[in-house]
Amino acid sequence: MSLRPIITIGHKTLAAKSAPVTVIDDGVRTLARDMIETLHAAPGLGLSAPQVNVSVRLIVLDLSIGENPDDLIIMINPEITSQEGQIIREEGCLSVPEVFEKVTRPQKVTVQGLDLEGKERVLEARDLLARVFCHEIDHLDGKLFVDRLSPLKRSLIRKKFRKAAAAKP
Ligand code: NI
Repeated sequence: MSLRPIITIGHKTLAAKSAPVTVIDDGVRTLARDMIETLHAAPGLGLSAPQVNVSVRLIVLDLSIGENPDDLIIMINPEITSQEGQIIREEGCLSVPEVFEKVTRPQKVTVQGLDLEGKERVLEARDLLARVFCHEIDHLDGKLFVDRLSPLKRSLIRKKFRKAAAAKP
């Protein structure tokens, strides 16, 4: 297992649509393990493969941040098949450091995908878990949470990160 660098806003992989996983091989299993380690080290509640610069549809979630193995979810090719309700809550992202903004998300979602053994899984998620699923699946479609803010807020945040990148030696 190894930690992988998390790329940040402005990197082109974060804006790209990720490809479905077609074969669950050692590469995918290693990627999943590395992503879990990277997520726990960050620490964060969820991580998508594009955030470690791999453009495939794989996400890991762990609301317990490594405290409870039952909370760890690895999902391949996840899809939201139904959603209900709306909750507005502050959200952040490991790829958009130090920015927290209110985002509207469904209160409840049904998510369908594959586990690491290739078995189909259907999960119902509510509240924070539903939010993390939506956030991570957005990453697979090249969308960051800031893309769900008003155009003004979004452009201010993007400008701030472009300035920071330009200031780097
Ligand atoms: Ni994120």
